[in-house]
Amino acid sequence: LATVAVGAQAQDFPGGKPISIVVPFAAGGPTDRVARDLAEALRKPLGGGSIVIDNVPGAGSSIGAAKVARANPDGYTLLLNHIGMSTIPTLVRNVPFKVETGFEYLGIVNDVPMTLIAKPQMAATNYKELSAWITANKGKINLGNAGVGSASHLCGLLFQTATKTEMTPVPYKGTAPAITDLIGGQIDLLCDQTTNTSPQIEAKKVKAYAVTTAKRLTTPLLKDLPTLQEEGLKGFEVTIWHGLYAPKGTPPAITKKLNDALKVALKDPEFIKKQEGLGAVVATDGRIEPEGHKKFVAAEIAKWSPIIKAAGVYAD
Ligand code: MLT
Repeated sequence: LATVAVGAQAQDFPGGKPISIVVPFAAGGPTDRVARDLAEALRKPLGGGSIVIDNVPGAGSSIGAAKVARANPDGYTLLLNHIGMSTIPTLVRNVPFKVETGFEYLGIVNDVPMTLIAKPQMAATNYKELSAWITANKGKINLGNAGVGSASHLCGLLFQTATKTEMTPVPYKGTAPAITDLIGGQIDLLCDQTTNTSPQIEAKKVKAYAVTTAKRLTTPLLKDLPTLQEEGLKGFEVTIWHGLYAPKGTPPAITKKLNDALKVALKDPEFIKKQEGLGAVVATDGRIEPEGHKKFVAAEIAKWSPIIKAAGVYAD
């Protein structure tokens, strides 16, 4: 009888009931931006019902992820998270779930470059001058991030290792509050995703010095920024990706509906325009399939774990 019930439920899922997408960082940041744009594009393929964003920040995205891991596996509570899913196993202690087995993988959404930005008062007019300033101010630099395990934390960690510098980490519940303090001059530097930094760079509220991707970006705003590799940081490459997840045990008929809706959303011209306008690249490869998503995260865990351990920084 239960199977019949689940079958019927899956049949008319979501049946007008609101779906909640947990965003494990503060509202207004890059993860939130991707989730809100995606929710807009998912509405139609999921029957036009409401999709609400639930910001649950903390512990490098593991608080929000834990909320979804223990949610009812009925398809109405989803998680939108980024590269943090592959750094949590190494960077965050006492996490009450296993990334690889604690979720149903619904597909990768996009890839997002990062930019190295500074407070507006920064005098440096290019990366070389910024690098000289960093050397001259050793031990006095405040580097913002969105908490241990966040994308900004990972990028900052790699940047300090590559430049053999040590900066004071200033954690926030997301890079929305972090960039507000950077604009105010309370912190000096931030490595953050273009989805969050582009509008501030355009408004000249922060200064941009480089991008973290292997190749230069093509958006009019960011195409003249050098890559950190060009500036001598050999092999430096950090690209942030976002994926969609449901609690483990969500019925296959429902996860299929959610993955089908995601694939429609990823082709939505409005969604693509918004994301590309902010420097993001919407996923079109095999990672948009659940199996491809799962394999990709496992490969990312294997990739980042030794790099993080070599950098010698762990959770709090
Ligand atoms: C991060 O640094 O992990 C994200 O930018 C946090 C956020 O989305 O605010």
